Amino acid sequence: MSTEQGKQQIRVSPDGDRRRRRFFRLNEIIAEQTSRNQSLISILQAVQEEYRYLPEEVLTYIATALDLSPATVFGVATFFAQFSLKPKGRYLVTVCDGTACHVKRSMSIYDAICRKYDLKEGDSTTSDMLFTLETVACVGCCALAPVMTINGQVHAHMSPDAAVTIIDTLASRKES
Ligand code: FES
Repeated sequence: MSTEQGKQQIRVSPDGDRRRRRFFRLNEIIAEQTSRNQSLISILQAVQEEYRYLPEEVLTYIATALDLSPATVFGVATFFAQFSLKPKGRYLVTVCDGTACHVKRSMSIYDAICRKYDLKEGDSTTSDMLFTLETVACVGCCALAPVMTINGQVHAHMSPDAAVTIIDTLASRKES
């Protein structure tokens, strides 16, 4: 075998490289969390914060690392609504539909965003993976109703037009 052929055999594909980085960070999270005796739920929360969702291969990896059955880890990940097994957009937009926001017509905000970005229930992430739109039941600042959050940042006293303008601004930043 020539030296050149040998080099080609050990060349790492971009996918392989991404995969290795992904699991390196995952190992760090698991080590940090287990050193603080955190529960499986806390570990999944930390992992989801990093990846924005819980990929199946990551759940299997966590099960092996924690010496749990995959069924246990998948069971927890699918039981709690806070966890997602589907990829989410870079910006997680949530429209509050708790009572205080609902009576102030928060769902008209949700509908306006759906219309503008061609989203619907069950298909709530834009095709460019920029936004995921969800509803949430009360984010704890009812005096500011109706409320929208973007990656956890609260936007108070929203109207449909104001909400769409904020999202349009984020979308245009991506294009520039
Ligand atoms: S109901 Fe929307 S913040 Fe409480």
